Amino acid sequence: MSSEYDVNLRYGVDSKGDLSNKVAVVTGGLGGIAMASNQMLLEKGARLALLYPAFEQSKVNDVAGQFAADSVHFIECDVTDPQSVNNAFAEVISHYGQIDILVNCAGYVMLQPVLETDFDEWQKQLAVNLTGPFLCSQAAAKLMIEAGKGGKIINIASQAASVAIDNHVAYTSAKAGLLGMTKVMAKEFAPHKINVNTLSPTVVLTPMGEKAWRGEKGEAMKKLIPLGRFAYTDEIAAAVLFFAGNGSDMITGADLMIDGGFTIW
Ligand SMILES: NC(=O)c1ccc[n+]([C@@H]2O[C@H](COP(=O)([O-])OP(=O)(O)OC[C@H]3O[C@@H](n4cnc5c(N)ncnc54)[C@H](O)[C@@H]3O)[C@@H](O)[C@H]2O)c1
Repeated sequence: MSSEYDVNLRYGVDSKGDLSNKVAVVTGGLGGIAMASNQMLLEKGARLALLYPAFEQSKVNDVAGQFAADSVHFIECDVTDPQSVNNAFAEVISHYGQIDILVNCAGYVMLQPVLETDFDEWQKQLAVNLTGPFLCSQAAAKLMIEAGKGGKIINIASQAASVAIDNHVAYTSAKAGLLGMTKVMAKEFAPHKINVNTLSPTVVLTPMGEKAWRGEKGEAMKKLIPLGRFAYTDEIAAAVLFFAGNGSDMITGADLMIDGGFTIW
């Protein structure tokens, strides 16, 4: 008698993680974690649209020199501006004709104690870290649903979304909101086979990580991380790759901690 529950049945996970024929959009695409992710996504055959803010225009030529021109397309985009986001996604479609993966990597932090948090800084951190992923995910999901081939949305949150860290009130509020947004989108988009997940790194060795944790404060922080160090950008990129491939097709609405054990209780 044949069984539906045959232990030999397989989904068809591609253990090589091939992404050829896939187009990935990476916001904040010239940043530290983004650049490590870009490299790995390209190695697996994906083509990339890298969205960057106008103030990083001078970096584009440098970065362009590191990649094959036909695999990477640069698009200026302020993720906090709905018009800029709509224009950018229209440009992705006009250039590549498809979008399969979105990595929401743009981010901004300004550490201030609660009582000294400037309203403008509060607004900016919510705008870049929460409104930006909302606008980009909404734009990407519309196109993915229209194409009917499913998709992957990968949001870079933070350990700060789940634990209280001094001086992080605006950043934490935005990143915790991002976890909530991810769950709702995961549920609403599941019928369209669009997976939506977050990655939550500890401190990562990037300009943003250094801005927040340089020096003695960082050394003290490392002592609180069971694995005793900060994360490297390629360790976050490896998780991006996992969530971009079909080996993660059964995972949605999840938050993957990449924190060396900092949030173990
Ligand atoms: N570095 C860390 O310690 C750390 C830890 C946890 C989570 N994260 C998250 O990882 C992601 C990547 O950060 P990173 O460490 O690579 O920092 P990064 O500063 O190297 O990269 C962030 C990028 O976002 C871009 N950006 C800022 N505002 C933008 C806007 N309005 N529109 C478009 N792009 C904008 C910046 O120009 C920059 O290139 C962020 O979401 C960050 O919050 C970082």
